[in-house]
Parts: sequence; C-alpha cells; structure tokens
Amino acid sequence: MNSHALIDELKTLLEPGKVLTDAASLDTYGKDWTKQYAPAPSAIAFPKTTEQVQAIVRWANQRQVALVPSGGRTGLSAAAVAANGEVVVSFDYMNKVLDFNATDRTVVCQPGVITKQLQNLAEENGLYYPVDFASSGSSQIGGNIGTNAGGIKVIRYGMTRNWVAGLKVVTGQGDLLELNKDLVKNATGYDLRQLFIGAEGTLGFIVEATMRLDRAPKNLTAMVLGTADFDAIMPVLHAFQGKLDLTAFEFFSDKALAKVLGRGDVPAPFETACPFYALLEFEATTDDIADTALATFEHCVEQGWVLDGVMSQSEQQLRNLWKLREYISETISHWVPYKNDISVTISKVPAFLREIDAIVSERYPAFDVLWYGHIGDGNLHLNILKPEHMDKDAFFAECALVNTEVFETVRKYNGSISAEHGVGMVKRDYLQYSRSPVEIQYMKAMKAVFDPNGVMNPGKIFSI
Ligand code: MLT
Ligand code: ZN
Repeated sequence: MNSHALIDELKTLLEPGKVLTDAASLDTYGKDWTKQYAPAPSAIAFPKTTEQVQAIVRWANQRQVALVPSGGRTGLSAAAVAANGEVVVSFDYMNKVLDFNATDRTVVCQPGVITKQLQNLAEENGLYYPVDFASSGSSQIGGNIGTNAGGIKVIRYGMTRNWVAGLKVVTGQGDLLELNKDLVKNATGYDLRQLFIGAEGTLGFIVEATMRLDRAPKNLTAMVLGTADFDAIMPVLHAFQGKLDLTAFEFFSDKALAKVLGRGDVPAPFETACPFYALLEFEATTDDIADTALATFEHCVEQGWVLDGVMSQSEQQLRNLWKLREYISETISHWVPYKNDISVTISKVPAFLREIDAIVSERYPAFDVLWYGHIGDGNLHLNILKPEHMDKDAFFAECALVNTEVFETVRKYNGSISAEHGVGMVKRDYLQYSRSPVEIQYMKAMKAVFDPNGVMNPGKIFSI
C-alpha cells in the first residue's frame, strides 16, 4: 500500500479533519524542544477517544506504521520527535478533566490536560499539584507521565511517578489496560502502572491518568543566596535542611544569572557578584520559621559560605526570585545549548561536579559553559552554549566528542545520564552508561511483550 492510501485509511479511523498532512502541521507536531533533529512525520492524527487511540494502534500494527506520541512538545530528549516518516499521535483533543474527588484528593485527566490547568484546578479546590517546572504552561500530563517529569520541587514532593494514582493505557497491541484503579494500597503482583511511567510511549499510550493532589503549601518564602564558590553550596544545603523543611533547593552559576539579567525584565537579587547562587524555598508558617531561616543565613555568612542573600517578603518578590532560576532554560535556548541532565546521589555532588567541570573546561575553553539545576536532589544541568558564528551541526558534533568522558564519569559515580529529561533519541546511544547490558536486555524483552511489532515510538530509549 502506498503512503497516500495508508493516510486515507488512517482518516477513516478518526473524525473528519483530524488527520493533518500540511507542511506547517508536520513541522510543528513533528518535533519537541530539542533542536538536533529535523521533523519529518508523514501525518498527524488527533484522536478524541480511547477507542480511536486503540483503532490507530491496531491499524499501525496491521500496516507496520511507526507511531510517535505527542503532548505539549516541551521535551528535551527528542522522545516526541518524528524524524523518519512516522505518524504522530497528538493528544491535543483529549484534553479534558473528567473528575475531581475531594475525599480521595484525585483528579482524573485525559493525557492532553496542560500541567498548569491541573495546578490551577488543585488551587481552586484548596489543594496543590506539586510537580512544577518552567514549561508547565504548555506541557501535558500524558507527556509528564511518559517522561516521569521532575522539576523544581522534587526535593520535597518527588517526581511525577509519586502522583500517579492510576492509569489507563493502550498497549502496543491495542489492548486497554486499567492500572491500579487509583488505589492507595494494592498488593496484587506487578504494578504495571510504574512500567508505563517514564517509558516515553515505547510500550503504549496513556489515555487517562488519575493524579493525586496534596495539601496547599502555606506562605511559601524563597531565599536567594550568593555563595563564595561551588564548594559552599552543599554545606549551605545541609545547614538549611537541618533547620527547615525545604520545598526547593536549586542552584545556578553567575553565567546563567547573567543571561537571565540580560533580558532586562527580571530584577537582580542583590548587588554582590558571586560565582554561584542557591535558591531555596520553605513554608514560613510562623514567625519562628522565618527567624530560623534568617539565623541560618547568618550562620552561613559567618562560615564564609554565603556572601550575600535576600529573602522574599511578598508574593511578587517570591515570583521574581523564582524567575532568576525558571527563566534560564528559555533564555539560553537562543544559544542552541548542548544540554546534559545528569544526576548522582547528593553526597557525591561536589566531587562529581568538580570532575565534570574540569573535563568540560579543559576540552572546551572557548565555549560558554553554564551550570544550573536541582542540586538539592542531585540533578545538575550542564549547558554548553553555541558560539553565534558556529554551524549548529558542527557545534553538536564537537560537543558529542566529550560525551564519552562525561558519561564515563557519570558511570564511575553510579549516576544517571538522564535525571529527568528522558532518553529519547538524544541519550539513546549512551544508555549503557547508566544501565547494564543485562538490564537493557530485560528492558527490550519488556518492550517486545507490550509492542511485539515495534510500532510504539521506535528508536526512542534504544534503537529498536
Ligand atoms: C530546568 O531545570 O530548567 C529544565 O530541566 C530545563 C533545562 O534543563 O533547560
Ligand atoms: Zn531541570
């Protein structure tokens, strides 16, 4: 069957107008936020129901057509990129909140619900959906689950996985599985729900998710502290963690801060220039807690770890301090950064960062290297910026040369080559630095069970 006939057949499975093949749609829906790959899907399908998703998957099996799931397309590992003539399955029209249960504190969402929409719904009901990151205004719940999204509050609330009470998925064979039925306790064998979280759509597509909510935090208060050097950040973390229940502990380098301040729409936290900055957050529910935070700050200054600092006194100031961290990724996207998203256990962070920084500075003295990330949970983002004049492909090729060295170091520290951005195509060829050969064999065997014909997002996580 030729490709026109295939697309005509696909159209019969969906409502009229819900399969697009125009150039602009192929370009938009064929990619995520990664910039290494040119989008080249053959069509974009927009199912509205679970039955339509099942019909698409069954058709794909019958016709050997590769499918790529697509959410808010904010991913950074090319897990949602269709670069090889695949059919993209967009969940834009499966975007409804189906139920809210105040007693269970759960929300039943279709996969296309935007993260912010869920956060707002929680807030309107006096509750809180705690997984948060800069792209929450466009990322979708299905994508968050598919990548087990992390973000800025992991130190307190964990990753998306912690908040998934139940899932409905269409497997690669077109079967509908109802996983965990939203139960808190359910000791009935394998928890298949967990397999689909972070699977990047390689085992099946999420068609419904029940998300848990938490109590709303009270009087969130942020501090930005300028540290004397990188080595001071971890003692600062320990000092504050010993005294306060932190909701966030982020860090960024002076170079990252300079890029954000260069936008001109975010105020500097204070005048003192420091090589590194920590942003921490806690619930200042009593005056005592705020006093403890200030006393801990003073202790850190006395120790010589902290050079200057500021504590938010209003919602507006809290928001402005967060912008210093949250705007980094979008701001530096202008320089087409080569991104790394690596993690180690928290105790290993200082030695690990020093080693990686030495490798990168030695190999790339001419490139701008920026550090930022979720240091409180051991997740560091290393970004190398492309010089304006340099060709994009040449730049990525040059950066890739150092991957082996960086990932060898990750392996040495028992770390992860992808803490929260996923594997997709970007990290696929490096999976063996985080997973053993025998573990990868088991993963592939699992893929073969759920997707025997290899139609579900092939070429992501591993090259099948
Ligand atoms: C972040 O922490 O800002 C996000 O993971 C995005 C990025 O790393 O650029
Ligand atoms: Zn991050």
